[in-house]
Amino acid sequence: MNNPTILTGLRVNSEFTLGNYLGALLPMVRLANKYSSKSQINIFVPDLHSIISEVDGNLKQNLVRSLKVYLAAGLKINQNVHFYRQSHVPAHSELCWILDCTATMGELNRMTQFKDKSDGKDSVNVGIFNYPVLMAADILLYDAVYVPVGEDQFQHLELTRRLAERFNHNYGEIFTLPATPKKQAEFMADGRGDEGIRVRDLQNPQKKMSKSSRSENSKIMLSDNPAAARKKIMSATTDSVGKIQFDMMNQPGISNLLQIEALVNNLPLQDVISTWAGETHYGDLKQKVAESVATMLEAFQTRVGEISDDEIMQLLEKGEGYANKTANDKLRKVQECVGL
Ligand code: TYM
Repeated sequence: MNNPTILTGLRVNSEFTLGNYLGALLPMVRLANKYSSKSQINIFVPDLHSIISEVDGNLKQNLVRSLKVYLAAGLKINQNVHFYRQSHVPAHSELCWILDCTATMGELNRMTQFKDKSDGKDSVNVGIFNYPVLMAADILLYDAVYVPVGEDQFQHLELTRRLAERFNHNYGEIFTLPATPKKQAEFMADGRGDEGIRVRDLQNPQKKMSKSSRSENSKIMLSDNPAAARKKIMSATTDSVGKIQFDMMNQPGISNLLQIEALVNNLPLQDVISTWAGETHYGDLKQKVAESVATMLEAFQTRVGEISDDEIMQLLEKGEGYANKTANDKLRKVQECVGL
């Protein structure tokens, strides 16, 4: 594939967790820096996706702060790197509606994220149900091939492929299919051996680390005081097996710590596993990971403080010019196909 477009989005309902950062943001930054001399790199804020649920603080401020995170994480800007807001490119909502008329209730009912978010609720808004179709529009408008996201979003990528295939079958080759989740994971791993990243909840490592978790000790936020983050790692749930090894099924807590250690230090997971092979003192591993996370947070927070709001607003203005042009070209073709 010639210079495939790479695209991702992160909702900014609150600050980012270490899970968002290690699972989606950092891989995107690494890949963007590697490919941006040839590929288009689209980094957008899905603010329409944000309003399906409560927003902590002010969406506009969260948005500017979140884009600073990419720069602080080392993203290099050139003419191929684009920042934009979903709400500032109306073609996203427009294509979403057209795709809605091809997606089925059954397909959307099967989405795990919808099931999780609606579980036990008396009333669920239609936005939560329709969320994956808007996500498909976000991707298909730009012919994006690689979409670096955490493992929890892979099902939405499958749906995107299915909707694109259906449309192309009916109307001709209009959409580029994003790569399969397996290929996405390989691309994201970039030869490092990660297979779809899911950073776990520190207190309940069966679950993914999530901003919505009620227990403060279960998640690390990027703005956490480094000393507090250290304590959270020290109190992470482990197991009684007594061996440091990577076994997500039976030892998710220890495996999660090994994974965090690898990602924070930009090391192949396998190297970290080998370093700790044969060790039995969980406290030593926790100390090491706590140190790595605290050091990373400190450096990172200093860098965020050095980036101005103006710098981000200028990047958004430029990016939205590109995004509207690209998305409108595609939307026009789609509208013609369906007779609009
Ligand atoms: P969102 O905002 O829920 O999450 C943002 C990204 O962070 C990843 N992530 C994690 N990765 C590893 N471990 C975790 N514990 C963890 N928690 C979150 C998510 O997989 C995601 O990549 N639907 C998307 C936003 C979106 C989008 C798009 C992404 C809207 N349109 C188009 C790509 C392309 C979402 O809800 O992400």
